[in-house]
Amino acid sequence: MKRKTEEKMWPYPKVLAHRGAGTLAPENTMAAMRYGWEHGFAAVEFDVMLSKDQRPVVIHDEDFGRTVAGNGKVPGHDAAFIMQQDAGAWFSADYKGEPVPDYASVVNFCRSRGIWMNVEMKPAQGYERETGLVVAAETLQLFADLSPVDKQHLPLFSSFSRAALLAAHEVAPHIPRALLVREAGPDWKLHLQEVGACALHIRHDCLTRDLAVQVKDAGYGLFCYTVNSPERARELLSWGVDAFCTDRIDLIPADF
Ligand code: G3P
Ligand code: MG
Repeated sequence: MKRKTEEKMWPYPKVLAHRGAGTLAPENTMAAMRYGWEHGFAAVEFDVMLSKDQRPVVIHDEDFGRTVAGNGKVPGHDAAFIMQQDAGAWFSADYKGEPVPDYASVVNFCRSRGIWMNVEMKPAQGYERETGLVVAAETLQLFADLSPVDKQHLPLFSSFSRAALLAAHEVAPHIPRALLVREAGPDWKLHLQEVGACALHIRHDCLTRDLAVQVKDAGYGLFCYTVNSPERARELLSWGVDAFCTDRIDLIPADF
């Protein structure tokens, strides 16, 4: 009976490729999605942010300079411009010219292959609510063919921003939400309740066995980021952690 309840808390895969293929391909690009898929991963986490013209693009940093060159900001440019930026050259010459993808392209790629998605809403500062509203609205369109109760195939939204999660709930209440935290403060349960989250996503080295037990006993899914050692992954799973994402899809395979 207990086992059945646990399955409902986390009806998703156990190991997710972080940002597409972790550190083995340029993060949050189509090349990364392809690399993860070709290496056996059918579950992925990626980051979504709004451009100036309010289109969701798949990128982690608000500021240019790391994965795309220059001094701009994602919310300072239209999606058409951002999607022309080279998000592969920083990683290696092999990926030079790999563009920033939009959200729809990544979703369509994943859906066509049965890859399950944890969509991290990563609002640029000051755009928390807009990001939740727009990403949720576009998700409704991209998954319009699925039943609202098809939890296994619908994506899971996650965010460090409670405002983004609340906004997503307004637009798409049936798409599950997880609250992302670096560490859980004393109010973690209140915060989960506030946004109607089904799971807590926490930085793995901020999780204790004690907290893991509390989260599971309270009936929530429990997910850790970003776990790159098989030993640590085994330890977390032994504490009751349901799932985690990894940058090292070479060390921690999808069927770990
Ligand atoms: O969603 C888990 C993880 O991706 C959160 O942190 O900074 O890697 O997006 P970050
Ligand atoms: Mg992320």
